[in-house]
Amino acid sequence: MPRGRNKKIKKGEENPEDYKKISPKNQILRGMKDIIPADWRYWSKVFEVFENMAREYGFFRIETPVLESTVLFKRTSGLTSDVVEKEMFSFTDNGGDNVSLRPEMTPGVVRAYIEHGMVSKTQPVKMYYISPVFRYNRPQAGRYRQFYQLGCESIGDFSPVLDAQLMIFVYNFYKELGIETSIQVNSIGCQECRPEYRQVLLDYLRGKRKKLCDDCKRRLSKNSLRVLDCKETGCKEVAEDAPQIVDHLCDDCRDHFVKVLENLDELEIPYVLNPKIVRGLDYYTKTTFEIFPVTENDSEQSSVQELGGGGRYDNLSENLGGRSTPAVGFACGVERLVKQLKDKGNVVPPVQMPKIFLAQLGDQAKKRTLRLFEDFRKAKIPVAENFAKGSLKAQLEMANKIGAKFTLILGQKELLEGTILFRDMESGVQETVVLDNIVSEVKKRLK
Ligand code: HAM
Repeated sequence: MPRGRNKKIKKGEENPEDYKKISPKNQILRGMKDIIPADWRYWSKVFEVFENMAREYGFFRIETPVLESTVLFKRTSGLTSDVVEKEMFSFTDNGGDNVSLRPEMTPGVVRAYIEHGMVSKTQPVKMYYISPVFRYNRPQAGRYRQFYQLGCESIGDFSPVLDAQLMIFVYNFYKELGIETSIQVNSIGCQECRPEYRQVLLDYLRGKRKKLCDDCKRRLSKNSLRVLDCKETGCKEVAEDAPQIVDHLCDDCRDHFVKVLENLDELEIPYVLNPKIVRGLDYYTKTTFEIFPVTENDSEQSSVQELGGGGRYDNLSENLGGRSTPAVGFACGVERLVKQLKDKGNVVPPVQMPKIFLAQLGDQAKKRTLRLFEDFRKAKIPVAENFAKGSLKAQLEMANKIGAKFTLILGQKELLEGTILFRDMESGVQETVVLDNIVSEVKKRLK
C-alpha cells in the first residue's frame, strides 16, 4: 500500500498521492490562463503600444516583487475592500512572515518610491508597469486569479492636470488599438468632506436596508460607499436615488474636480460624470475614474465590465509611513483588452516568418547547416529550419507553409563540392551557389 493512501490529509497539507497524478491530463489551476504563442501577437501589440505611449507621456518602467508583506496591502488597498478581505493569496512563509501575492501594483510602487528615496527626485515621479497580479476571486468571464495589469502612477503632485492627463493617455491608448471607450469620472472627496457624506449616505441606505443584498447590508457599517457600485439589481435601484457625493465636497475637492473636468474639456475627451464610480480599493481620494468599452446598444452598456480604473490616492504614502505625498494613477486589465481586440476582429498581423529556409540532408550536412544558421543570424538575416526533419519533401513542405521565398538545400554531394542549392520557391528553379558565398548572395537577392 503506497504511503499516504489511508492517511487523512488536512486542508492545505501536501498529499504524496498528488505527485502520481501528474500526467498530460492535469489541467491548469482554476482562474489561471496560458498565453499560447498563437495569442502572443495580441499581447505584444498591446505591450508595444502601451510602452511607446507611456514613454511619450514621460513615464519610466518599474517592476516590483510579486510577493510582498501582507500588511502592505492591508494598510493601503484596505481592510474594507473585497480585494484584501477575500481575494488575497496569502500565506506564512518558511521564516514565519505573513506574505501575499500582490493583488494590484499601486501599493508596491509607492513602497518602492518611499524605499528608494524618490521623494528627492523631480516631482512627480512617473512610473509605468506591465505586470501579473493575483486575486483569489470566483473565476468567470473576464475575471481571472492571475491577470496582467498595465498601468501608470504619477507620484508627488496635487495638480488636477495630472489626473486629466492620465485619462487622456488611457483614452488615446485604447483609441490607438481601435477600441472606442467612455471614461466615467467622479470625485469621492477627502478625509475632510467624506465622513459627512458617508453619514448622509448611511442615513439614506438604512432606510432602504431591506432592498440591499447581504454583502451590502454588511458593508453598511464598514464602507457604505461600496453599496453604490454593487451590481445586484436591488442595490442598483437603491443607488439610483442615493445622495451624491459631489453635492457634499469641500471647497478644495470641488475646485480640484472642476479643474480636472476643465482640462478634459480642453482636449475634448469624451467623459461621463458618474457618481457611482467609488472604486473597490480603500485608498482613493478626490478623483476616481473607470474606462468602459463603448457598446453598440445602451442595454449592453450597463452590464459591461470596465477595462480599467484609477484615481487619486493622496494619503497612501503617509499610510505606509512615508511623507505626505499626493499621487494619481490607473491600471487596465490586459486579458479584458485582448478579448476586446479579438471580439472586434482588430487584425494584429501574425509574426513575420523568415523568407529563407535552410534544408539539410544527412548528418554531415546537418552539422554544417547548424553553423550556416549562425552565420545568417550574425548577418541579421532571419532564416527558418527544421533540424528534426530529415526528408527533403517534408522540409520543402514546411518552407512552403511559412511562405519562404527561397530554400537553401545542403546535401552530401554539395557539401563535398563546397556548394549549396538555391531554390526559388515560386518557380521551383534551382541554382548551384558557392557555399562560402551564400550569406552575401542571399543578401544581394533579398534586396
Ligand atoms: P482595479 O480596478 O482593482 O484597480 O483593477 C484594474 C483593472 O484590472 C480592472 O479595471 C480590470 O480591467 C482588471 N481586473 C481586475 N480584476 C481582474 C480579474 N480578476 N481578472 C481580470 N482582470 C481584472 C487597481 O488595481 C488599481 N491599482 C488601479 C490604480 C492604479 N489606481 C491608482 N493607480
